[in-house]
Amino acid sequence: MKIDQSRLQKEIDALALITEAKPPVVTRVLFSEADMRGRALVKKLCRAAGLVLREDAVGNIFARWDGVDKKLPAVATGSHIDAIPNAGKYDGVVGVLGAIEAIRALRKTGFQPKRSIELIIFTSEEPTRFGIGCLGSRLLGGVLLSKRAAALKDRDGKNLEFWRTQGGCAGRLDSVKLPKNSYAAFVELHIEQGPVLEKGKISIGVVEKIAAPSTLRVQLVGVGGHAGATLMPGRRDALLAGAEIALAVEWSATTSGSPDTVGTTGVFRIEPGAVNSVPCRAQLEIDLRDTNVKTRDAALRRIEAEVKKICARRKIEFTMERLNLDPPAICDAALVQTVSGICRAQKIPCKKMISRAYHDSLFMAQVCPTTMIFIPCFKGYSHRPDEFSSPAQIEKGVRVLAETLASIASR
Ligand code: GLV
Ligand code: MN
Ligand code: MN
Repeated sequence: MKIDQSRLQKEIDALALITEAKPPVVTRVLFSEADMRGRALVKKLCRAAGLVLREDAVGNIFARWDGVDKKLPAVATGSHIDAIPNAGKYDGVVGVLGAIEAIRALRKTGFQPKRSIELIIFTSEEPTRFGIGCLGSRLLGGVLLSKRAAALKDRDGKNLEFWRTQGGCAGRLDSVKLPKNSYAAFVELHIEQGPVLEKGKISIGVVEKIAAPSTLRVQLVGVGGHAGATLMPGRRDALLAGAEIALAVEWSATTSGSPDTVGTTGVFRIEPGAVNSVPCRAQLEIDLRDTNVKTRDAALRRIEAEVKKICARRKIEFTMERLNLDPPAICDAALVQTVSGICRAQKIPCKKMISRAYHDSLFMAQVCPTTMIFIPCFKGYSHRPDEFSSPAQIEKGVRVLAETLASIASR
């Protein structure tokens, strides 16, 4: 099978130029103008590859290569093309454009799938707009109820209804949930976003488990005032409470007893944001994960207890909301074996591993047997503009994906 890596690389480079930021920075927030142009490019490539397109009510895109037996559940692959602020060009994209190339390569060999092969481009894997990641796959898996999804608001107060209308989506949100037996399997190709494969000089990771993510939003209301005229005693500075909370997140993660607990205060906004004004409001979004849900939850409870203590001491009003609290996903052992076996047959070194990042696979695992194919990336960098995987590394990933899809689609 011949993977046309130079064409794929050109497509990756072209998609990276569709960005809200100045290249090489990639930013494509859900249903922004850049996201819409990115979607249009991907849909064009799918059509050119002979795939039949459909879109659901939240904008998940499905591109299907019909199998001989259309009644059999299809084998699915896919990932996302939305990108967080200040991102690179490979996160998600390798799993979308790489899947299109895998399908083109399979077609060229004359392969005729027994089961249909379906590429899914998931809506908003990244949490940037609504604070919650994997919006599309959560709805597909029925993990997020449509009523709760409809209530999601971005920081400007615009809700999902506004944005999905803007994005041209039609239909009811509750129609997004997939019926049982929609798919025989789901396999996502992705860059590792960590250093394990590169360090070990291993070409392919086969994912056995995806770590458990959670997000806590904390809103703080203090008392603002003139930075010169408000004397220090009695101040109720919302930023300072937030700063103590951010330190408590670090403390809670580092003392959880699990080396796999990671805690990040990735959003910290203050108002009014004027140098000569005491901050009266702060909003924090805290990302807390672990491979072990017990230590993750215990760490989260300690953070919540600290928020209460800090706010009481500083006389700050607060609200806390757990935006998501997800269990880890266990990948399908037989699928892991299929991918490992393909690597062995192709003489490609591979390693079974866990994913510390979350992915749409976390929720597709609720729908059907799921695994992921990881490829190495430079120093494990991700969510930054210098994220990089080489064409040769991507080619191997696409080859293994194509072989995996062919294997499952033939059963
Ligand atoms: C996905 O982008 C993650 O934050 O793990
Ligand atoms: Mn990401
Ligand atoms: Mn991703």
